[in-house]
Order: sequence, then structure tokens, then C-alpha cells
Amino acid sequence: MDRLNGSARLMIVSDLDSTMVDHEDPEDVSLLRFNALWEAHYRHDSLLVFSTGRSPASYKQLRKEKPLLTPDIAVMSVGTEIAYGDAMLVDAGWEEILSRKWNRDIVVEETAKFPELIPQAEIDQRPAKVSFFVEKVNAQRIIDVLSERLEKRGLDIKIIYSSGTALDVLPRGAGKGQALAYLLKKLESDGKPPANTLVCGDSGNDTELFSIPEVYGVMVSNAQEELLQWHLENMKSNPKIIHATQRCTAGIIEAIGRFGLGPNVSPRDIMDFQKWNGENVNPVYEVVNFYLFYERWRCAQVQKSEHYLQKLKSMFYPLCSFIHPSGTEWSIHQCIDTMERLHGDRQGKQYKVWVDRVSSAQIGSGSWLVKCNKWESFGAERYCCLTTILISSKFFVG
Ligand code: GLC
Ligand code: MG
Repeated sequence: MDRLNGSARLMIVSDLDSTMVDHEDPEDVSLLRFNALWEAHYRHDSLLVFSTGRSPASYKQLRKEKPLLTPDIAVMSVGTEIAYGDAMLVDAGWEEILSRKWNRDIVVEETAKFPELIPQAEIDQRPAKVSFFVEKVNAQRIIDVLSERLEKRGLDIKIIYSSGTALDVLPRGAGKGQALAYLLKKLESDGKPPANTLVCGDSGNDTELFSIPEVYGVMVSNAQEELLQWHLENMKSNPKIIHATQRCTAGIIEAIGRFGLGPNVSPRDIMDFQKWNGENVNPVYEVVNFYLFYERWRCAQVQKSEHYLQKLKSMFYPLCSFIHPSGTEWSIHQCIDTMERLHGDRQGKQYKVWVDRVSSAQIGSGSWLVKCNKWESFGAERYCCLTTILISSKFFVG
């Protein structure tokens, strides 16, 4: 959270499964569109928060399977665990708050009296989250009776039903909404409240996100009935909440545009490299575009043309070099000469390139140092290279 000097221009708080991640899109088309948009236009002054029902272990598993960016904050286990940054530093204060009026053993004892409640896998059971599967027809009755019994035993709990199948028992102060309220309060007391916040979700455990005052909200087109129904009953007249026409991450990009929260054209949406001229734009944008061009070049989605390569060389004239973590330095001219031979070598293969955690620092007049994690996926294989790029261009205004 301390990465930014001032208030975030935009804070996106998004659920993962079926919101940021579309499990029906094996090529992750819209997630990769979002990634390029975020790194090119938002990373430097905005905050990305993932808010998932998954436990830390299951979240880490998803990050290995899908091209997810590194968020500034990860809220996991339905708002019961908060971790910061790449190192995932745990917010112990939040855990302490949740431990009040909570007793996991009593929850386990009382829930065991309902044979309809099927315990979820061990990986999804957490200190402040006890989770089950239950059929829709039984859900409401069990929620009512169980709430009453746990209350009688002195606990202050909440029960959340999601996706017509999952039932979570949590401390009352937990949940995605409460975790977001806690984070907003923290940012405010640091004097850095975000200028705008956009919450994004698809199912029951996301409803709370939409009740936080002031936030913009998008229910993706594929949202579950329980979320749409809740919205209809509680938030129908709130113009800051929309039901997108597009699925998952495409719906998030749609909301950025509809609410006018900032740029909403992903570099991946621009197919015409003729328009890419490096003039008066920033070095971060050029790096995102460079790797996009690299992917499309190797997949032969751009024509093999000497013109493009010359243009690239001239754009970064007189100096641009890539520094490998080993310390080896490659000039842009060497890179482009190597690239020439690689045209089409990944054609028809599942090959994607994306950048994460892009940051830049100006080191002189018109000279910049850009750092990023450059990822390549090729079928089931994945590589990451921490890359430093030294850029000096006549076009960049320092
Ligand atoms: C995620 C979690 C699961 C939880 C569900 C709904 O799928 O893995 O434990 O019940 O979200 O919150
Ligand atoms: Mg979801």
C-alpha cells in the first residue's frame, strides 16, 4: 500500500473466479487484455486488490495456472485474510479483530448436526472460515436455524451462500465488504483515500462489496442469480452499480469505460502497429507494446516486414538496452536482429507474453529505467524474467 506517494487514481477490488478469471476462456483473452491495460495505464498510480473466497494456498495455485498480475493487496478466504504486496505480508491486526467473539470449535460442533452440510476440502478450511457445500433447496432453512443456534452459544457470526452451492460460516466482522471497509479506513487514515474505487464480482460472497458507500460496482454479465437478485432487492436505483454486458474481465474493462474512470482501450485492442509511433507517450507504455509486438511477431500475427523493425530501431534511437538478471546487456539493435529470425516460430502454438509489476524511473533528460517481470507462456510451460530496460528516446519528454 505504501508503493504510491499519494491517493490512488483508481482502486480496483476484484473477485477472481468467474470475475477476473474466466474458466471458460482457456486462452485468457480478456484477462491478458486487462493486464496490458493495467500495466500500461494504471500500475504507476493506482491500486489493484484481489478479493477472493480462496484460501492463500488455493489462491497461489490459481496464480500458477492463470496469467494473473501481482496485486497490491490480496484479500483471501472471503475477507478473513489480508496480505500485502509481492511478499504477501499478513495483516495480523485484521486477524486479531476477527478472533473476537469467534470460536471455530463451536462452529464445527454445531454444523456437524446438519447432515446436508458437506464439508469442503481441507485447503478451504481456514482459522476464521468454515466452509461447506449445500444444495440450494436446503440453504435458507439451514442458514436460519444455524444462525440462531450459534448466536445462542454466544458467537457473533455471518453465513454467506455463493454460486448456489457454497456456504461459508465467518465471524460477523469478516467478509469481503468488511475487509474493504477496513482497507479504505486504513488508506484514509494515511491521508491516501483512493479517488475512485471500482468493485467487481459475480456471486454471493461479492454482494457486500457493492454495499460499501461511494464505490462504483460492476456485476459481470455472467453473474450468479443470487447476486443479481440481491441487487434487485437492495441496490436497484444506485446508478453507480451496473450489470455488464460482457463476461468477466471484459466486463471490468467495460465498466471502466462506462463510468469514465480512465483509459479503457487495452494495448491488446490495438492491432495496427502503424499507429504505434512512440511519440509523446511514456516509456512504460512502450515497454508493454514492445512485448506485445514480440508476441505477435513470433506468432506471425504481424507481417514479417523490415519496415516494422526499422521503425522500432529508430523509435528507440540512440540508446535502448535490455539488461538480463545475469547482468548481460543487449542493445535494442541486437534484440531486433535476433527477433528477425524468430518470426512465426510460435505460430499456431499457445504462446503469450505479458508484463507484471512494471515500474519506471527517469534517470536523465529523456532517459528512463523501466523494470518489469516479463512472463512468457508456451503451452503448459511458463517463464519469468526480471527485466530492466534502459530507454533513451528523442521522443520522450522528460
Ligand atoms: C471459494 C472458496 C470456497 C468458498 C467459496 C464461496 O470458492 O474456495 O471455500 O466457499 O469461494 O465463498
Ligand atoms: Mg467469483
